[in-house]
Amino acid sequence: MRILITGICGFVGNTLASGFRQGWPDWEIVGLDNLVRAGSEMNRRALRERNIKLYHGDVRNPSDLEALPRCDWIIEAAANPSVLAGVDGKTSSRQLVEHNLAGTINMLELQKNWRCGFTLLSTSRVYSIRALAAIPMETQGDRFCPSPNPAMPGVSAQGITEEFSAEPPLSLYGACKRASELLACEYAGSFNLPVSVLRCGVLAGAGQFGKIDQGIFSYWIHCYRARRPLKYIGFDGTGHQVRDCLHARDLLPLIARQIEQPSAHAPSVINVSGGLGQSASLRQLSAWCADRFGAHPVGADAKNRPFDVPWLVLDSTRAAQAWVWKPQIPLETIWAEIAAHAEQNPGWLDATAD
Ligand SMILES: NC(=O)c1ccc[n+]([C@@H]2O[C@H](COP(=O)([O-])OP(=O)(O)OC[C@H]3O[C@@H](n4cnc5c(N)ncnc54)[C@H](O)[C@@H]3O)[C@@H](O)[C@H]2O)c1
Repeated sequence: MRILITGICGFVGNTLASGFRQGWPDWEIVGLDNLVRAGSEMNRRALRERNIKLYHGDVRNPSDLEALPRCDWIIEAAANPSVLAGVDGKTSSRQLVEHNLAGTINMLELQKNWRCGFTLLSTSRVYSIRALAAIPMETQGDRFCPSPNPAMPGVSAQGITEEFSAEPPLSLYGACKRASELLACEYAGSFNLPVSVLRCGVLAGAGQFGKIDQGIFSYWIHCYRARRPLKYIGFDGTGHQVRDCLHARDLLPLIARQIEQPSAHAPSVINVSGGLGQSASLRQLSAWCADRFGAHPVGADAKNRPFDVPWLVLDSTRAAQAWVWKPQIPLETIWAEIAAHAEQNPGWLDATAD
């Protein structure tokens, strides 16, 4: 079995490549990365030492893909993963669309030519910002939670299901992912090839290149330890906004199962997320950080930003039913792993800053 991982030097790509090398030693792993993400070059040497063949190339350039050996499965993890991408003045909207949508189309063409399987790392950001903002919320302790029985399609007691609205506004990032999802499913249907779209909530773990608009749990823990300024932004500056959190290693058994035993009957699109049991507000994360590192003041800015949502927790029941999958690594273990990494790598934020 030969697997191609795009974005292999990024947080998810590197975690998957290293995990497959360890747990599935018979698989050959090949990776592609253009090293555009600050810090990604740091993973190169370790990947090579694990006998993983790396290609320095760009998913936007079909000619960069010509050198790749034919693979049995493609895992598409190359992207600009920020919800602010294309509108933050750091990357243009065209650049984002080229990386996150045109790049995926090139990889789908490769899938068609190779007649192989395809996994798309998608996101909870395919769900409608307006609909998410319309879920009635109440405050319980230090966090928001939906009012009982909100009676909205796609909201279960466990969180947002795959039936939730995916109508714009989604952010340019979310829209590129949604378009990539649709095309991935269409290519699979048109050419009779296996596909898996994984809608991930926040992924986290040691070695993540966190920033305020992406990898929030890692970013927060690193900043708290380093005594850098932190602020609760939006929602009256309360820090009550909630996300769920999944260790990227928890993707390994699911993706491996899908590669080893692809099922034509399993749903192509599934939520894969930490869920309610692994969710927390920023204020709860700060309390955990204060216990670990000692107190550090957190400021507040009450003004909401366009892409902020109060509560985004995914219901992964479909993944559990179809693939007997559930998260294994508890929230506090993930946070402790990030904290230990932050203590061992005090220069991490500077080394991975844009
Ligand atoms: N980290 C999360 O919380 C999260 C949540 C949901 C979905 N995802 C998705 O998972 C995937 C991986 O995210 P991540 O957290 O590892 O991000 P990351 O920024 O750490 O890694 C992305 C990698 O892709 C590379 N890359 C970017 N554009 C490229 C291009 N045009 N050609 C080749 N390589 C390119 C970067 O250099 C980087 O190494 C992304 O598609 C992201 O949208 C991530």
